[in-house]
Amino acid sequence: MHVDIQPVQSADVAAVAALAREIWQAAYAEIISQAQIDYMLDQRYNAPRLLDELATPGYWWDQAFLDGERVGFSSCYLTGAPGELKLDKLYVHPARQRGGVGGALIARVLEHGRAAGCDTLLLAVNKQNARAITAYEKHGFTVRDSVRVDIGGGFVMDDFIMARSIPQAAP
Ligand SMILES: CC(C)(COP(=O)(O)OP(=O)(O)OC[C@H]1O[C@@H](n2cnc3c(N)ncnc32)[C@H](O)[C@@H]1OP(=O)(O)O)[C@@H](O)C(=O)NCCC(=O)NCCS
Repeated sequence: MHVDIQPVQSADVAAVAALAREIWQAAYAEIISQAQIDYMLDQRYNAPRLLDELATPGYWWDQAFLDGERVGFSSCYLTGAPGELKLDKLYVHPARQRGGVGGALIARVLEHGRAAGCDTLLLAVNKQNARAITAYEKHGFTVRDSVRVDIGGGFVMDDFIMARSIPQAAP
C-alpha cells in the first residue's frame, strides 16, 4: 500500500478541518466530553488559524492520501527551544488506521526536523488515549513528563509528554 504524503495547501484547509472532525468524533467520544471536542475543534481547526499556520516559517502541515483519498494529516513546528520540534497533530481516519499511514506521516515529520537541524521530536497525548500511546511507542517515543494544561472554556488537557530522537541522515 502506497501512502502519498503531500504538504497541505490553502485550498485544502476546509477538507482537512472536516477530516479532523470525523476523526475526533471517533477518537475522543469516550475520552472527553462533546462540549470539549467542539471547543477544541473550533479553537484549533478554524480556517484563519490553519491559514496562519500554513504561512508561518518553521511550521509544517502534511496530508496523507491512499488511492487519491485524503485519509490523514499531521502538523509540527519548531518550539523555539534549541533542537526541538513538536508533533502538534497526527490524525488518521478510523477506517485507515493500523495501515502505516501514521508511521508515514511521522517519517515526514522527522524529515522536517532533520532538515531544520533538530534532534528531538516531542508531543502531548491524552493520558487516556491508549491506542495513540501504543502507536507512539511503536514509533519510538517514550513518556517524558505528565502535564495538566488549562485550555480555557473550563477545560483542561490531561496529557503525557512523549519524546523521541530525530535520527540524522546516513553519512
Ligand atoms: C494514533 C494514530 C495517528 C496512528 O495512526 P496509524 O495510521 O494507525 O499508525 P500506524 O499504522 O503507523 O501504527 C499503528 C500502531 O498503533 C497502535 N494501534 C493503533 N490502533 C490500535 C488499536 N486499536 N489497538 C492496539 N494498538 C493500536 C499499534 O501499535 C499499531 O501498530 P500495529 O498495527 O503494527 O500493531 C491513529 O490511531 C489515530 O489517528 N488515532 C486517533 C486520533 C489520535 O488519537 N491521534 C493522536 C492524537 S495525540
